Amino acid sequence: MNRCAIDDLRDVAQLRRRVAAAAASLRTGGLVAFPTETVYGLGANAFDDTAVRRIFAAKQRPVDNPLIVHIANGDQLEACLPVGYHLSPDERKLMQTFWPGPLTLLLPAGPQIAPAVRPGQELVGVRMPNHPVARALIAEAGVPVAAPSANISGRPSPTVADAVAADLEDAIDWLIDAGPSAIGVESTVLLLEPDCARILRPGGITQEMIAKTIQRPVLFAADVFDLDAAPLSPGMKYRHYAPNARVHVWWGEEAAIASAMRAFLEGEGDGADAATTIPALIAPQDFVSRFEWHLPPVRMAALPADDYATNLAHALYDLLRRFDQVGATDILVYGVDPAHGISTAVMNRLQKAASGRVRRVE
Ligand code: TXA
Ligand code: MG
Repeated sequence: MNRCAIDDLRDVAQLRRRVAAAAASLRTGGLVAFPTETVYGLGANAFDDTAVRRIFAAKQRPVDNPLIVHIANGDQLEACLPVGYHLSPDERKLMQTFWPGPLTLLLPAGPQIAPAVRPGQELVGVRMPNHPVARALIAEAGVPVAAPSANISGRPSPTVADAVAADLEDAIDWLIDAGPSAIGVESTVLLLEPDCARILRPGGITQEMIAKTIQRPVLFAADVFDLDAAPLSPGMKYRHYAPNARVHVWWGEEAAIASAMRAFLEGEGDGADAATTIPALIAPQDFVSRFEWHLPPVRMAALPADDYATNLAHALYDLLRRFDQVGATDILVYGVDPAHGISTAVMNRLQKAASGRVRRVE
């Protein structure tokens, strides 16, 4: 694997020169891991079926799980769609409002999209990422880039380059490192139905933001909160985002969260065994000080309490991976009210990582 680091994100012409070798690799069937504002992606030429199939092999990804196609401009969008396709007014509005950004729109797939990108699906997920390196790479490659998150299937998505290297070092051609991803959870996946818009995967663009932009109800697919519901989106049925340690999440009233966590550590809940449990904690800074939590620093993440949900989104996947590395058996997470904003996306991922061990406490 070739690796390059990029620290100056301002000069787009220079960026394009820096990523030229990786872009050439994309054009000739290579696999390139690259930064986006959500998580790191593992890219291949979306028009090259052989290259796209290499993504599935590298990630050990089930072949029926469709990929998102990343574009850098309007010409590339057009190349993804059926010839002569006219965008609907709502599609246009969503693109104008949220692109570049963390919104994936499901659109009719054009003939050039490689079959492996959208196994058995009529629609293809398309998004224009809001990261200068991703944009420069895709523009320089000159082709749309199919890219799932750059992790082994089922593991937490990578939000730093070292996490990509840990999972995929031997399986890919290039890794471009531009520091941590800003948002930390994957894009919102949105399906426009005749009478509503349905969020198949919550992400950085929230339900409220979408509802303000288009004149139809914005609903969530049933499986966003209910682990037993049948997923509308093929990818959502798989085990996801999970570290090796067990994850436990409590949200609600602060003192109740503290007692639930204490009870767990004392062996009172969930089959915990106080003698063998090696706990790690993710919680707001003020909660940690108020309730006097004492854990070794390597197993304790006290996040700034101001805008905690955003900080949790940003740090979550990296923390899950780090706590695995230091041998934690159980990761205790101070959760957030899933009803609004980025909290919906964070709690959706936590619910999957925790296999449903998410409780509201009062
Ligand atoms: O933020 C992101 O979206 C990141 C970065 C790299 O852009 N990518 C990402 O890709 O999260 P991935 O493969 O990990 O998740 C893509 C998910 C699929 O699992 C599936 O649930 C949904 O998007 N999806 C993609 N194409 C679809 C389609 N044609 N129909 C239904 N769902 C689709
Ligand atoms: Mg993924």
